[in-house]
Amino acid sequence: MCGIVGYVGKRPAQDVLISGLRRLEYRGYDSAGIATLDSEDKPHLARSVGKIAELEKVLALKPHTGTLGIGHTRWATHGGVTVNNAHPHNVGDVFLVHNGIIENFRGLKAALKDVEFKSDTDTEVLAALINSKYDEKTSLKDAVAKALKEVRGTYGIVAFSPREPETLVVARLGSPLIIGLGEDETLIASDASALLGYTRNAIYLNDGELAVCNKEGAKVYNLDLKPIASTPEEIQGELEQIQKGGYDHFLLKEIMEQGTALKNTLSGRVDAKNGTMRLGGLNLTPKELKNLRHLVIVGCGTAYYAGLLASYYFEKLVPDLTTEVVIASEYRYRSFHLPENSAALIISQSGETADTLACLREIKRRGAKVLGIVNVIGSTIAREVDGGTYVYAGPEISVASTKAFTAQVTTMLIFAGMLAESHGGNMDTVRQLASELVALPENIEKTLKAYEKDMKKLAEKYAKYDNALYLGRDTAYPLALEGALKLKEVSYVHAEAYAAGELKHGPIALVDDRFFELVDVLDGPLFEKTLGGLQEVRARGGHTIVLTDSKKDIDCDDIVRIDTDAKLTVPLLLNTLQQLFAYYVAVARGNDVDQPRNLAKSVTVE
Ligand code: M6R
Repeated sequence: MCGIVGYVGKRPAQDVLISGLRRLEYRGYDSAGIATLDSEDKPHLARSVGKIAELEKVLALKPHTGTLGIGHTRWATHGGVTVNNAHPHNVGDVFLVHNGIIENFRGLKAALKDVEFKSDTDTEVLAALINSKYDEKTSLKDAVAKALKEVRGTYGIVAFSPREPETLVVARLGSPLIIGLGEDETLIASDASALLGYTRNAIYLNDGELAVCNKEGAKVYNLDLKPIASTPEEIQGELEQIQKGGYDHFLLKEIMEQGTALKNTLSGRVDAKNGTMRLGGLNLTPKELKNLRHLVIVGCGTAYYAGLLASYYFEKLVPDLTTEVVIASEYRYRSFHLPENSAALIISQSGETADTLACLREIKRRGAKVLGIVNVIGSTIAREVDGGTYVYAGPEISVASTKAFTAQVTTMLIFAGMLAESHGGNMDTVRQLASELVALPENIEKTLKAYEKDMKKLAEKYAKYDNALYLGRDTAYPLALEGALKLKEVSYVHAEAYAAGELKHGPIALVDDRFFELVDVLDGPLFEKTLGGLQEVRARGGHTIVLTDSKKDIDCDDIVRIDTDAKLTVPLLLNTLQQLFAYYVAVARGNDVDQPRNLAKSVTVE
């Protein structure tokens, strides 16, 4: 979603802001802007619609000088995509960038009668509100604190004023902000990746906190302006992880590096010899683990599908545990009941998804333990859960989630193995899972290498179709859902997914020769039944692609058979083929693969 960068220090602010905004491009945006102060404390503002390259064209005509400034990439919420609606906003002496939504902005706007608003945004109203408190006797810090007390909604903000030319004021409620502490320079960003290469020392601002930053560092307060002690933490990650490393797109890089990502996910957690699995950080006593009876898995989009896939394994492996998988945006408003000995698994790549976070808080309020399965280190969800674990997939830049899905499922499989052990599950199956998990990074690498060309060829053949139906049974059903989501996100092909057994209950009416069907066929007890659905599709003119681990005969138009001894982890192998397929269809259709239209990497508003 929107991105924020702020800088005060010794370097040309324009360069730092633009390079920071570029690092945040992956989050999705439709306009961008920066505001800086020059050496005579004169403010300069540049904004443009479209990509950062457009903003650079504006800046090339009139470059900004000076060593303090703020920058923003905007994803339109209030008001269309126009230069006037782009951030930073300026009212009086206040320059402001803002992520989040000010819910009561209409009421506030009506009360600010003397202001001539130039945009349709809630952010300009907030800038005007701060400015209305910013009289000669008041500091920017005090004005921001006063204004924020009147605000309802969410915000991560950075403000400056030419009247206090060495200061940035920062505040957060529900929208992340990180303050990077460098040598004679301080940076602010909504995402740690913008700080890499400048400093590893950072304060993660908490909700309800405000900070005053200058080049010497930052002082943190609550909104009553009482000082708060803050301990800087180390930013994780490497610069190379957020670069394409020779690939055409981040999406392909992230698909192809899944083997390496999984090695990190599994590191020190699975002992194949003894069939034991461990996850640190869950903060569950052996008794709590053993007594667990109800597991609710919460997520959105791909994270939800990861939970759905994992739920089949929890059921298979852990006797006496009921597993429920829920969509966060629905669950947060349902009158749900959590029986005794319940815990929730909160699944999120970004750790910032607004609906998922709201569920976490609601479940916690009702007294159940909340455990995070999160990728981004130091993210809000990771900080708010009672316990949990990182999936260590590394930074995922492309909007479409790939390696995070694989790492999320793998981490949940480890948890399922742990639970199986403490609940008296079948240890032969647990041992088999452990040895498959240890082999998984290599199996994924082999699969990707062996079938990439096949998937590219298939994608080029089917790229002309505008409709797709993904089908699967058992663990291949969540796989079908994830495959269809990936295809629609990056290729804009209308893709639906169904449990194969549902075909006759409605979706078969869609099938004609304008559709292709991608069927994930697992070599197992439901093999024949899955084929039944496939034949019904073929009989009605549908074009069929099969992805399978089976060596048996299958009547279809195109087939990719993976060669593997794995049994339990086959869905994760087949999924990598679906990812490649979606990627190459999107490339063949000439789409912006890494930043698909209308999508943002992390959905921090409802
Ligand atoms: O960061 P999160 O895992 O909480 O994000 C959840 C979804 O927004 C995300 O998985 C989304 O569906 C992706 N674009 C899927 O590729």
